[in-house]
Amino acid sequence: MRVPRASPEERDTPMTTIGILGTGHLAEFLIRGAAGKGYRFLIAPSRRAGTLAQRADVTLAASNQQVVDQADVILACLPAREGLSILQSLGFRQGQSVLSAMAGTRHAPLAAAIAPAAAFCTMMPGHANAYGAGPCLLYPPDRTWEQFLQTLGPVHPFIDEHAFVTATAFGALSGASFFLIDTMVQWFAANGLPEAQARRLVAETFIGNATVVLTETATLAEITPGIATPGGITQALVKSLTADDALTAWHRALDIVLARVRGET
Ligand SMILES: NC(=O)c1ccc[n+]([C@@H]2O[C@H](COP(=O)([O-])OP(=O)(O)OC[C@H]3O[C@@H](n4cnc5c(N)ncnc54)[C@H](OP(=O)(O)O)[C@@H]3O)[C@@H](O)[C@H]2O)c1
Repeated sequence: MRVPRASPEERDTPMTTIGILGTGHLAEFLIRGAAGKGYRFLIAPSRRAGTLAQRADVTLAASNQQVVDQADVILACLPAREGLSILQSLGFRQGQSVLSAMAGTRHAPLAAAIAPAAAFCTMMPGHANAYGAGPCLLYPPDRTWEQFLQTLGPVHPFIDEHAFVTATAFGALSGASFFLIDTMVQWFAANGLPEAQARRLVAETFIGNATVVLTETATLAEITPGIATPGGITQALVKSLTADDALTAWHRALDIVLARVRGET
Protein backbone atom coordinates (compact mmCIF):
# COMPACT_ATOMS: atom_id res chain seq x y z
CA MET A 1 0.00 0.00 0.00
CA ARG A 2 1.35 3.43 -0.90
CA VAL A 3 1.72 5.77 2.06
CA PRO A 4 0.67 9.34 1.09
CA ARG A 5 3.70 11.65 1.13
CA ALA A 6 3.60 14.89 3.07
CA SER A 7 3.42 18.02 0.90
CA PRO A 8 6.57 20.23 0.86
CA GLU A 9 4.60 22.68 3.03
CA GLU A 10 3.85 19.96 5.62
CA ARG A 11 7.47 18.73 5.63
CA ASP A 12 8.92 22.21 6.21
CA THR A 13 6.42 23.49 8.82
CA PRO A 14 6.80 22.35 12.45
CA MET A 15 3.47 20.97 13.75
CA THR A 16 1.64 23.11 16.33
CA THR A 17 -0.98 21.39 18.47
CA ILE A 18 -4.14 23.40 19.04
CA GLY A 19 -6.46 22.31 21.81
CA ILE A 20 -10.16 22.73 21.03
CA LEU A 21 -12.85 23.21 23.67
CA GLY A 22 -16.34 22.88 22.16
CA THR A 23 -16.02 20.32 19.39
CA GLY A 24 -19.08 21.24 17.32
CA HIS A 25 -19.86 22.65 13.88
CA LEU A 26 -17.36 25.53 14.00
CA ALA A 27 -14.56 23.31 15.29
CA GLU A 28 -15.11 20.92 12.39
CA PHE A 29 -15.06 23.77 9.81
CA LEU A 30 -11.78 25.08 11.25
CA ILE A 31 -10.11 21.66 11.40
CA ARG A 32 -11.09 21.06 7.78
CA GLY A 33 -9.81 24.49 6.69
CA ALA A 34 -6.44 24.09 8.42
CA ALA A 35 -5.86 20.53 7.12
CA GLY A 36 -2.35 19.97 5.78
CA LYS A 37 -1.14 23.42 6.90
CA GLY A 38 1.05 22.48 9.87
CA TYR A 39 -1.45 21.95 12.70
CA ARG A 40 -2.63 19.06 14.83
CA PHE A 41 -5.71 19.24 17.04
CA LEU A 42 -6.45 17.88 20.50
CA ILE A 43 -10.23 18.00 20.83
CA ALA A 44 -12.56 17.90 23.83
CA PRO A 45 -15.19 15.15 23.94
CA SER A 46 -18.59 15.88 22.35
CA ARG A 47 -21.18 14.09 20.22
CA ARG A 48 -19.25 14.98 17.04
CA ALA A 49 -15.74 14.47 18.46
CA GLY A 50 -15.54 10.69 17.90
CA THR A 51 -16.07 11.06 14.15
CA LEU A 52 -13.64 13.97 13.91
CA ALA A 53 -10.99 12.01 15.81
CA GLN A 54 -10.84 9.53 12.91
CA ARG A 55 -8.80 12.15 11.04
CA ALA A 56 -5.01 11.72 11.13
CA ASP A 57 -4.48 15.27 12.44
CA VAL A 58 -6.96 14.99 15.32
CA THR A 59 -6.62 13.37 18.76
CA LEU A 60 -9.54 12.97 21.16
CA ALA A 61 -8.88 14.06 24.76
CA ALA A 62 -10.64 12.49 27.75
CA SER A 63 -11.91 15.81 29.15
CA ASN A 64 -11.85 19.59 28.78
CA GLN A 65 -9.14 19.78 31.45
CA GLN A 66 -6.94 17.31 29.57
CA VAL A 67 -7.13 19.60 26.52
CA VAL A 68 -6.00 22.53 28.67
CA ASP A 69 -3.25 20.48 30.36
CA GLN A 70 -1.77 19.20 27.09
CA ALA A 71 -2.04 22.20 24.75
CA ASP A 72 -0.34 25.60 24.93
CA VAL A 73 -2.68 27.20 22.41
CA ILE A 74 -6.39 26.65 22.88
CA LEU A 75 -9.34 27.56 20.72
CA ALA A 76 -12.69 28.00 22.51
CA CYS A 77 -15.67 27.14 20.29
CA LEU A 78 -18.06 26.55 23.18
CA PRO A 79 -21.73 27.59 23.20
CA ALA A 80 -21.74 31.40 23.49
CA ARG A 81 -24.09 31.49 26.48
CA GLU A 82 -22.21 29.08 28.77
CA GLY A 83 -18.72 29.42 27.29
CA LEU A 84 -17.19 31.76 29.87
CA SER A 85 -18.43 29.77 32.86
CA ILE A 86 -17.11 26.54 31.29
CA LEU A 87 -13.71 28.22 30.80
CA GLN A 88 -13.84 29.56 34.37
CA SER A 89 -14.23 26.00 35.70
CA LEU A 90 -10.92 24.92 34.09
CA GLY A 91 -7.36 25.49 35.33
CA PHE A 92 -5.10 27.41 32.90
CA ARG A 93 -1.41 28.23 33.34
CA GLN A 94 1.02 31.03 32.56
CA GLY A 95 2.31 30.97 28.97
CA GLN A 96 -0.89 29.54 27.47
CA SER A 97 -2.88 31.41 24.85
CA VAL A 98 -6.65 31.14 24.44
CA LEU A 99 -8.59 32.35 21.40
CA SER A 100 -12.36 32.62 21.80
CA ALA A 101 -14.50 32.23 18.69
CA MET A 102 -17.64 32.45 20.82
CA ALA A 103 -20.08 35.14 19.70
CA GLY A 104 -20.25 38.11 22.05
CA THR A 105 -16.98 37.39 23.90
CA ARG A 106 -15.32 40.52 25.33
CA HIS A 107 -11.62 40.57 26.10
CA ALA A 108 -11.73 41.53 29.79
CA PRO A 109 -14.20 38.83 30.98
CA LEU A 110 -12.40 36.24 28.84
CA ALA A 111 -9.02 37.22 30.32
CA ALA A 112 -10.49 36.96 33.83
CA ALA A 113 -11.96 33.51 33.10
CA ILE A 114 -8.73 31.99 31.78
CA ALA A 115 -6.11 33.81 33.90
CA PRO A 116 -3.11 33.54 33.95
CA ALA A 117 -3.32 32.51 30.25
CA ALA A 118 -3.36 35.22 27.56
CA ALA A 119 -6.75 36.03 25.99
CA PHE A 120 -7.66 36.74 22.35
CA CYS A 121 -11.00 37.10 20.54
CA THR A 122 -11.98 36.22 16.98
CA MET A 123 -15.04 36.04 14.74
CA MET A 124 -15.37 34.24 11.43
CA PRO A 125 -18.18 33.01 9.15
CA GLY A 126 -17.55 29.32 9.91
CA HIS A 127 -18.45 27.26 6.86
CA ALA A 128 -16.38 29.40 4.45
CA ASN A 129 -13.35 28.81 6.67
CA ALA A 130 -13.51 25.10 5.79
CA TYR A 131 -12.53 26.28 2.27
CA GLY A 132 -9.88 28.77 3.48
CA ALA A 133 -12.15 31.58 2.27
CA GLY A 134 -13.73 33.11 5.38
CA PRO A 135 -12.43 36.44 6.74
CA CYS A 136 -11.28 36.18 10.37
CA LEU A 137 -11.21 39.05 12.87
CA LEU A 138 -8.58 39.05 15.63
CA TYR A 139 -8.38 41.20 18.77
CA PRO A 140 -5.80 42.02 20.00
CA PRO A 141 -3.24 41.23 17.27
CA ASP A 142 -1.08 38.16 17.91
CA ARG A 143 1.47 36.43 15.66
CA THR A 144 0.60 32.84 16.67
CA TRP A 145 -3.13 33.22 16.15
CA GLU A 146 -2.72 35.32 13.02
CA GLN A 147 -0.65 32.52 11.44
CA PHE A 148 -3.32 29.96 12.29
CA LEU A 149 -6.23 32.13 11.11
CA GLN A 150 -4.43 32.78 7.81
CA THR A 151 -4.97 29.10 7.00
CA LEU A 152 -8.73 29.76 7.18
CA GLY A 153 -9.04 32.99 5.19
CA PRO A 154 -7.89 36.64 5.17
CA VAL A 155 -7.19 38.01 8.68
CA HIS A 156 -8.26 41.42 10.05
CA PRO A 157 -6.25 42.24 13.21
CA PHE A 158 -7.75 44.97 15.47
CA ILE A 159 -6.00 47.15 18.04
CA ASP A 160 -9.29 48.77 19.10
CA GLU A 161 -11.89 46.54 20.79
CA HIS A 162 -14.78 48.89 19.93
CA ALA A 163 -14.03 48.56 16.20
CA PHE A 164 -13.56 44.79 16.62
CA VAL A 165 -16.99 44.46 18.26
CA THR A 166 -18.62 46.50 15.46
CA ALA A 167 -16.92 44.28 12.87
CA THR A 168 -18.25 41.11 14.56
CA ALA A 169 -21.71 42.05 13.23
CA PHE A 170 -20.44 40.63 9.93
CA GLY A 171 -20.99 37.15 11.41
CA ALA A 172 -24.75 37.74 11.09
CA LEU A 173 -24.32 39.32 7.67
CA SER A 174 -22.44 36.23 6.56
CA GLY A 175 -25.18 33.90 7.79
CA ALA A 176 -27.96 36.05 6.31
CA SER A 177 -26.21 36.07 2.93
CA PHE A 178 -27.09 32.37 2.56
CA PHE A 179 -30.77 33.30 2.94
CA LEU A 180 -30.37 36.10 0.39
CA ILE A 181 -28.69 33.72 -2.05
CA ASP A 182 -31.37 31.09 -1.45
CA THR A 183 -34.14 33.66 -2.10
CA MET A 184 -32.57 34.49 -5.46
CA VAL A 185 -31.94 30.88 -6.43
CA GLN A 186 -35.56 30.02 -5.63
CA TRP A 187 -36.79 32.89 -7.80
CA PHE A 188 -34.80 31.68 -10.84
CA ALA A 189 -35.89 28.09 -10.19
CA ALA A 190 -39.55 29.13 -9.91
CA ASN A 191 -39.19 30.87 -13.26
CA GLY A 192 -37.89 27.82 -15.08
CA LEU A 193 -34.12 27.68 -14.57
CA PRO A 194 -32.79 24.32 -13.32
CA GLU A 195 -32.06 24.85 -9.60
CA ALA A 196 -28.45 23.64 -9.85
CA GLN A 197 -27.76 26.14 -12.63
CA ALA A 198 -29.53 28.95 -10.75
CA ARG A 199 -27.39 28.18 -7.70
CA ARG A 200 -24.18 28.35 -9.73
CA LEU A 201 -25.25 31.50 -11.57
CA VAL A 202 -26.13 33.42 -8.39
CA ALA A 203 -22.93 32.31 -6.61
CA GLU A 204 -20.76 33.19 -9.62
CA THR A 205 -22.41 36.62 -9.83
CA PHE A 206 -21.51 37.37 -6.20
CA ILE A 207 -17.95 36.04 -6.60
CA GLY A 208 -17.46 38.14 -9.76
CA ASN A 209 -18.74 41.35 -8.22
CA ALA A 210 -16.85 40.73 -4.96
CA THR A 211 -13.71 40.43 -7.11
CA VAL A 212 -14.45 43.85 -8.65
CA VAL A 213 -15.01 45.42 -5.22
CA LEU A 214 -11.80 43.89 -3.86
CA THR A 215 -9.70 44.78 -6.90
CA GLU A 216 -10.82 48.17 -8.25
CA THR A 217 -9.59 51.31 -6.52
CA ALA A 218 -12.64 53.34 -7.62
CA THR A 219 -15.25 54.00 -4.94
CA LEU A 220 -18.60 52.19 -5.10
CA ALA A 221 -20.23 55.57 -5.81
CA GLU A 222 -17.99 55.80 -8.88
CA ILE A 223 -18.60 52.18 -9.97
CA THR A 224 -22.40 52.03 -9.69
CA PRO A 225 -23.35 54.66 -12.35
CA GLY A 226 -21.49 52.60 -14.97
CA ILE A 227 -23.53 49.54 -14.02
CA ALA A 228 -27.07 50.90 -13.67
CA THR A 229 -27.64 52.20 -17.23
CA PRO A 230 -30.51 54.75 -17.32
CA GLY A 231 -33.69 52.91 -18.32
CA GLY A 232 -31.95 49.50 -18.07
CA ILE A 233 -32.92 46.38 -16.12
CA THR A 234 -30.48 47.01 -13.23
CA GLN A 235 -31.99 50.44 -12.69
CA ALA A 236 -35.49 48.91 -12.79
CA LEU A 237 -34.53 46.32 -10.16
CA VAL A 238 -32.80 48.85 -7.88
CA LYS A 239 -35.73 51.28 -8.23
CA SER A 240 -38.23 48.61 -7.21
CA LEU A 241 -36.07 47.48 -4.26
CA THR A 242 -35.60 51.11 -3.15
CA ALA A 243 -39.36 51.75 -3.37
CA ASP A 244 -39.84 48.78 -1.02
CA ASP A 245 -37.06 50.08 1.25
CA ALA A 246 -35.39 46.70 0.71
CA LEU A 247 -31.81 48.03 0.55
CA THR A 248 -31.90 50.32 3.60
CA ALA A 249 -33.79 47.58 5.50
CA TRP A 250 -30.32 45.96 5.79
CA HIS A 251 -29.17 48.96 7.86
CA ARG A 252 -32.04 48.60 10.31
CA ALA A 253 -31.44 44.85 10.60
CA LEU A 254 -27.70 45.38 11.16
CA ASP A 255 -28.52 47.99 13.84
CA ILE A 256 -30.33 45.20 15.73
CA VAL A 257 -27.28 42.92 15.38
CA LEU A 258 -24.92 45.71 16.47
CA ALA A 259 -26.94 46.35 19.63
CA ARG A 260 -26.75 42.61 20.36
CA VAL A 261 -22.98 42.29 19.82
CA ARG A 262 -22.38 45.45 21.89
CA GLY A 263 -24.34 43.84 24.72
CA GLU A 264 -26.96 46.64 24.69
CA THR A 265 -29.94 44.26 24.21
N1 LIG B 1 -21.11 27.61 13.56
C1 LIG B 1 -20.49 28.67 13.05
O1 LIG B 1 -20.39 28.81 11.82
C2 LIG B 1 -19.90 29.72 13.96
C3 LIG B 1 -19.24 30.83 13.38
C4 LIG B 1 -18.63 31.78 14.21
C5 LIG B 1 -18.69 31.63 15.59
N2 LIG B 1 -19.34 30.56 16.13
C6 LIG B 1 -19.34 30.42 17.59
O2 LIG B 1 -18.77 29.14 17.90
C7 LIG B 1 -19.38 28.61 19.05
C8 LIG B 1 -19.85 27.20 18.72
O3 LIG B 1 -20.80 27.26 17.68
P1 LIG B 1 -21.20 25.93 16.90
O4 LIG B 1 -22.09 26.37 15.79
O5 LIG B 1 -20.00 25.13 16.60
O6 LIG B 1 -22.09 25.21 18.01
P2 LIG B 1 -22.23 23.65 18.28
O7 LIG B 1 -22.18 22.91 17.01
O8 LIG B 1 -23.39 23.47 19.18
O9 LIG B 1 -20.89 23.33 19.09
C9 LIG B 1 -20.71 23.59 20.45
C10 LIG B 1 -19.99 22.40 21.03
O10 LIG B 1 -19.72 22.62 22.40
C11 LIG B 1 -19.90 21.40 23.08
N3 LIG B 1 -20.14 21.64 24.50
C12 LIG B 1 -21.29 22.06 25.11
N4 LIG B 1 -21.10 22.16 26.44
C13 LIG B 1 -19.81 21.78 26.66
C14 LIG B 1 -19.02 21.64 27.82
N5 LIG B 1 -19.49 21.92 29.05
N6 LIG B 1 -17.73 21.22 27.67
C15 LIG B 1 -17.22 20.92 26.45
N7 LIG B 1 -17.92 21.02 25.31
C16 LIG B 1 -19.21 21.44 25.42
C17 LIG B 1 -21.09 20.76 22.39
O11 LIG B 1 -21.04 19.37 22.64
P3 LIG B 1 -22.27 18.39 22.25
O12 LIG B 1 -22.33 18.39 20.75
O13 LIG B 1 -21.87 17.07 22.80
O14 LIG B 1 -23.48 19.01 22.87
C18 LIG B 1 -20.81 21.11 20.93
O15 LIG B 1 -20.02 20.13 20.32
C19 LIG B 1 -20.52 29.56 19.44
O16 LIG B 1 -20.12 30.33 20.55
C20 LIG B 1 -20.72 30.43 18.22
O17 LIG B 1 -21.08 31.75 18.57
C21 LIG B 1 -19.94 29.60 15.34
